[in-house]
Amino acid sequence: MTKGAELGKGLKIGDTFTPNNVFCAPLAGYTDFAFRKLCYSFGAGLCFTEMVSAKGLKYNSEATRQLLYRDKSEPQTAAQLFGSDPHILREACESADLEGFRLIDINMGCPVPKVYKNGEGSALLADFPRAANIISECKKSGKAISVKFRIGLERGRVVAADFAKLCEDAGADMITVHGRTRDMYYSGEPDYAAIASAKAAVKIPVIANGGVFSRADALRMLDETGADGVMVARAAMYDPHVFSEILGGNDVWDRRAAIEVQTADMLLFYGEKYTVVQMRKMASFYLRGMRGCAQMRAKLFTCGTISELRAVLDEIFASNRVSD
Ligand SMILES: Cc1cc2nc3c(=O)[nH]c(=O)nc-3n(C[C@H](O)[C@H](O)[C@H](O)COP(=O)(O)O)c2cc1C
Repeated sequence: MTKGAELGKGLKIGDTFTPNNVFCAPLAGYTDFAFRKLCYSFGAGLCFTEMVSAKGLKYNSEATRQLLYRDKSEPQTAAQLFGSDPHILREACESADLEGFRLIDINMGCPVPKVYKNGEGSALLADFPRAANIISECKKSGKAISVKFRIGLERGRVVAADFAKLCEDAGADMITVHGRTRDMYYSGEPDYAAIASAKAAVKIPVIANGGVFSRADALRMLDETGADGVMVARAAMYDPHVFSEILGGNDVWDRRAAIEVQTADMLLFYGEKYTVVQMRKMASFYLRGMRGCAQMRAKLFTCGTISELRAVLDEIFASNRVSD
């Protein structure tokens, strides 16, 4: 196995250059434009929208379309689509909804039964011809196409290398390999050897995903897999500042400022009701590790308005200052 890429090195994906190789994963319910802006501000090299249903776009679902909202200040966010019909996926790639996206990722890893039973997400790991057809159809859109997939459906039946080759042969410009099987969901050590086998099978950039929570994890991931970059998921959701830590930056993690910026961005687009619900969740992640965390969380979840949320945050930050 060749040694992995240098941590922080830029990548070329199709005709897109990323400033570094530490990416923020697609996360359903989290990676909206306001969250992505925060991740970029801490150095993420590339962010993705959450998974968006190609069928939902075809049938004009406004809720689905909203998931693709991008802020003008975002550098080069990639859209992630899911589906099982190659023609519907291609139509989505070519639609006005995806006009601003130069890179489109296809989800072939989602383990959730609702998705899997429809032959979407990780189900495609068991349907090689359809997976190849999806990629080659989407490529006809002229956009750069990447694929994010798991190493297999079950432990002991790893298909990572064969699937990586399939993606490359069908025209993919990059792959992201989540080093867990479908039956592992999100727990357990990622299988570094399986990711390494995928990397060794192809020439296109390979991003390694799974269990990267720190700079040490990222270095280990690159070292053990030979991959070209890493993708961070839950660690970013809990603390978007992790990108700075992984990249060896010295940005300060000002939790209060981060919550304020994200709240202000969300308010402009989503309005108060949704913003409060989302920011209660985000703030409770960002406050992890502060004194009295559990009581603070309970209090946060009683907030029904932005001013209530700000008042509770004032109280939390004041009490943490006093006891510092
Ligand atoms: C709440 C949540 C939502 C997720 N949504 C998506 C998604 O929309 N698309 C996708 O490809 N993966 C999704 N994933 C999987 C992550 O992108 C990532 O592959 C997985 O969490 C492993 O990385 P980690 O160990 O760094 O968390 C999601 C994971 C979580 C926990």
